[in-house]
Amino acid sequence: MDINGTTRVCGLIGNPVAHSISPVIHNRLAGLRGDNLVYATFKVEAGNVAAAVKGAYALDILGLNVTVPHKQAVIDELVDIDELAAAIGAVNTLVRTEGGFKGYNTDILGLDRELSDVGISLEDKCVVIIGAGGAARAIAFLCAGKKASEIYIMNRTLEKAQNIADAVNEYAKKDIAKAAGISECGSFDKKDYIVIQTTSVGLHPHDDETAVTADEFYENAAAGVDIIYNPYETMFMKLMKKHGKPAYNGLKMLLYQGVAAYELWNDCKISSDMADIIYEDMKK
Ligand code: ATR
Repeated sequence: MDINGTTRVCGLIGNPVAHSISPVIHNRLAGLRGDNLVYATFKVEAGNVAAAVKGAYALDILGLNVTVPHKQAVIDELVDIDELAAAIGAVNTLVRTEGGFKGYNTDILGLDRELSDVGISLEDKCVVIIGAGGAARAIAFLCAGKKASEIYIMNRTLEKAQNIADAVNEYAKKDIAKAAGISECGSFDKKDYIVIQTTSVGLHPHDDETAVTADEFYENAAAGVDIIYNPYETMFMKLMKKHGKPAYNGLKMLLYQGVAAYELWNDCKISSDMADIIYEDMKK
């Protein structure tokens, strides 16, 4: 599609943004659907978030993605916010509405769709989240929203895990989330839990590392997702598979967070077949 006078603009604000795969996802989707839309990246310094959001609205920009370090700060610049995004306290997608942008968190929608794609339901399941950063926090809320029976947040720094557990329990209005030290994984006495690995341990070039090494932990798990996608098969996934358990990486989560944003901006539904075309490109 040639850029012309009616081309709509979407984009990503953050810092850094040059490495982002989002332009590939969105421009490819626009091409496949024949939408007259272009997606660009905008490097925005920390002090310029308010000006960037106001400017984007004034320029009739259709929607924005937000990446680190602005996912919290951007909340102050919204006219409305999705309930789950507000509870998480992080927004990665701005949708144009009358009077300003509304904020959503499509990172968790991305994981949600990946889980349904691979046939994992969180309902009534015990879920173990390894790590307690921003991604872990969003995922813990997803688990609560999807009616997991128990959520264990296991982290090197216990206090951070406890903060997430407290916030989730307040949101769920019951004590479903618990914090634990990562070293407790080896003596974890549950069975058939779903594991979601959210730490940065194992990211390329540290391909042969992972935050939890205890065999018993993998032996007793049902399935696992590592939100890392570089390497394509992480050490966490290898250990899961060594114990005969299915394991998935975070590439589909990344794809589907983009797909969910595109759907919100264009009020459309992207089929899994179309998403798969882009997924095959991303794997290369
Ligand atoms: P994000 O926002 O992307 O989720 P983050 O906030 O940088 O990332 O969080 C990184 C996570 O990886 C944290 O849970 C961190 O543990 P701490 O809270 O104890 O720092 C975890 N992490 C990083 N390096 C680790 C290591 N060597 N061993 C165990 N956990 C590690």
